[in-house]
Amino acid sequence: MPTKPDQGARTPAARAENVLDVNDLAVHFQLQGGALSRLLGLKSRSVKAVDGVTLTLRRGEVLGLVGESGSGKTTLGRALLGLVPATGGSITYHGRERGDRLVSQMRGAELRRLRTDLQMVFQDPHAALNPSMTMEVAIGHPLVIHGIASGAELRQRVEEALERVGLSPVERFLGKYPSDLSGGQKQRAVIARAIILQPEVLVADEPVSMLDMSVRAKILQLMLDLKRDLGLTYVYITHDLATAKYFCDRIAIMYLGRVVEIGATDEIFAHPRHPYTKALLKAIPEPDPDKQVPRDLPRGEIPDAAEPPLGCAFHPRCPEAVAGCGWESRDLRALLEEHWTRKVEAYDDELELIGDLDGLSTPSTTAKLGSGGAGAVRALLDRIRTESPDEPLWRGVTGIDPAGNGVEVHFRPADAPALRRAGSVDVACVLYPEVPGAGS
Ligand SMILES: Nc1ncnc2c1ncn2[C@@H]1O[C@H](COP(=O)(O)OP(=O)(O)O)[C@@H](O)[C@H]1O
Ligand code: SF4
Ligand SMILES: [Mg+2]
Repeated sequence: MPTKPDQGARTPAARAENVLDVNDLAVHFQLQGGALSRLLGLKSRSVKAVDGVTLTLRRGEVLGLVGESGSGKTTLGRALLGLVPATGGSITYHGRERGDRLVSQMRGAELRRLRTDLQMVFQDPHAALNPSMTMEVAIGHPLVIHGIASGAELRQRVEEALERVGLSPVERFLGKYPSDLSGGQKQRAVIARAIILQPEVLVADEPVSMLDMSVRAKILQLMLDLKRDLGLTYVYITHDLATAKYFCDRIAIMYLGRVVEIGATDEIFAHPRHPYTKALLKAIPEPDPDKQVPRDLPRGEIPDAAEPPLGCAFHPRCPEAVAGCGWESRDLRALLEEHWTRKVEAYDDELELIGDLDGLSTPSTTAKLGSGGAGAVRALLDRIRTESPDEPLWRGVTGIDPAGNGVEVHFRPADAPALRRAGSVDVACVLYPEVPGAGS
């Protein structure tokens, strides 16, 4: 594994300088819409890929965006470069020095400047390279399209970039096509193309996850060397906490479009606070086979980002969930289904009592169920409750009232928890209420 980046970036003076300020950023994708679906009366659905993210990128640091697939890491990375429009909130590039210009408001020359200052390195180096371009053409391409260099100067800068990323002797690589190169060499070429414009920030989206194990550490080490030599700032996107631990100064843990914990890497690893961070850390493969730990996250799949759980989006999977975490109709449905997997023989009779389960699929803090009479439905719920008295969902129930031929179960409404200071990190979880006076 590569060595840690130098600590110079952590000096107080460097800390004061924010390259990017992200404030309450939202990127929602509309899944259905347009005139036709409105005409047909279809409800438009949106995916909240990024939903209320606030963070800063400090000059000279490596900031990790870490989370499972679908947590919004790539979308956030692309939004930083202005490659995907924000639907809410703001991103400011060098706010203090350059007068709070928002990325979303940049046009023309200013946007072109941003696109040279911030570069992205993607996961799949093969897809990122045009198969019909030689390395000389591909790596020099950004200089040509921005009209920055041509002729002998272009060639010289391409050679320098190749040298820097370790594709040398350069004469051997200038005329090569992507298909002539190994995966690691292709990613080196992609990195050469990204640094040739002398950017300030590299957003590296899972840059080693498609490479062989044997070359991953070498590419990460190359990136750290380049950072030191060229004074770069990195956003490192990964689902892999093990590489983040070695690579990042600070880490933002993301879950379903939100940052749930952010702080210094050492602190997050030594004292993870958010239950999701703890679960991710437990899932890191243990190199020592005698110390095997369970690798799966608890309780099920990542929910659908188009209809995330109410309250804290992690609550259906959270082993530490409490009454105020946002329990709702879909949790009750999951609980009933779980009950029937244990009591298969009761399924037919009880389902008749409960009636249609589909009504529970619409997210709501009021769950209507039952067609067999309020008393009988309530008695059934009581029986299920005695079967699993520790199930935190029950603590979120504020009342069960008769309604029609069944009951209405009311849950305590909850907002998604905001990031709050806890020790030296920020955590979005009801278990960490802000300590008064401990502002950041
Ligand atoms: N262009 C898009 N249109 C619709 N949904 C999208 C689009 N891009 C991403 N998403 C959705 O946004 C969520 C976050 O995706 P992404 O940013 O790729 O996450 P990650 O990089 O963490 O895997 C996912 O549910 C994904 O399906
Ligand atoms: S708020 Fe905290 S305790 Fe509650 S579900 Fe979310 S992570 Fe778990
Ligand atoms: Mg991604």
